[in-house]
Amino acid sequence: MKEGILKLLKENNDDFLSGEKISEYFNVSRAAIWKHINTLKEEGYEIESVPRKGYRLISSPDILTYGEIEKYLNTEFIGRKIYYFDTIDSTNKKAKEIALEEVEGTIVISEEQTLGRGRLGRGWVSPKGKGIWMSIILKPQIDPMKVAKITQIGAAAVSLALEDLDIKSYIKWPNDIVINRKKVCGILTEMSCELNMINYVIMGIGINVNLDKQDFRGEIENVGTSLKVETGKKISRKKLLGLFLNRFEELYTSFINKDNFEDTLKICRDKSILIGKEVRIIKGRDEKSGKVVGINDEGELLVDYGENKVENIMSGEVSVRGLYGYV
Ligand code: BTN
Repeated sequence: MKEGILKLLKENNDDFLSGEKISEYFNVSRAAIWKHINTLKEEGYEIESVPRKGYRLISSPDILTYGEIEKYLNTEFIGRKIYYFDTIDSTNKKAKEIALEEVEGTIVISEEQTLGRGRLGRGWVSPKGKGIWMSIILKPQIDPMKVAKITQIGAAAVSLALEDLDIKSYIKWPNDIVINRKKVCGILTEMSCELNMINYVIMGIGINVNLDKQDFRGEIENVGTSLKVETGKKISRKKLLGLFLNRFEELYTSFINKDNFEDTLKICRDKSILIGKEVRIIKGRDEKSGKVVGINDEGELLVDYGENKVENIMSGEVSVRGLYGYV
């Protein structure tokens, strides 16, 4: 009912809506309405209450509930069902628990993660209300070998969504988004499959939106950054989330239904921060240096180690670093 009251207040624009009218609408007492209004206020909604006039919505918080992102969404199935948490250990973990029963496109999102997970067993700093920490449940009927491409679709979609907000970013193959040589977004894709049948894919995305410099401590101090730190402006998380989901659905459906990976490839190549750079390729304890010469049609990184020895590198198996640092 709380969501219903909020909807009524939003539809009523800037006008007052009397407690009596709302209670008649939902057929409950005015005290019950008052309780829900108070909960909404605790969530960050600014609601003015004036005796004999009623309630008026002044402003809505930048939270990532369905009610708040709905107006930015023009997707058919991505993000149409959202599990929203104030706090959780990891959205990827939760998404895996519910994936088999859920429809494709369902999202798990949390304002904070206490045990956020990154690639290669690392952690992921996810402070409350400052980022977009979410996992999308996907059920693509494709060869499991092609799942790495979905992660690249995710990276391309993040970069396009940032462009929609006039923020220029680069893609560090396969799936980091970089601004001023520091990471603002990472993607952790996990999959469950049998033989060549995919049960589900969980694409976990962390976007550092409004984190402050002090949020990047220890080993991430010189590697991580946020949109706010780089642009000097606070960014609307709900708008960015909506833009991303729209961009993602477009590229993803085109890939699944029309086998179109070219659009994603073009974005990943155009925005690549690695092409033309000398890098270190780290595979466990093994480290080699070479020059990135491109990304092939399969989305693999092409690295030239000299003497015409070009290797195709698949994502997932390596870490790529600049010669002197992250990139
Ligand atoms: C990386 O190491 O670059 C990947 C980071 C992925 C972080 C996101 S935040 C939401 C989702 N839940 C997690 O526990 N991890 C991913």
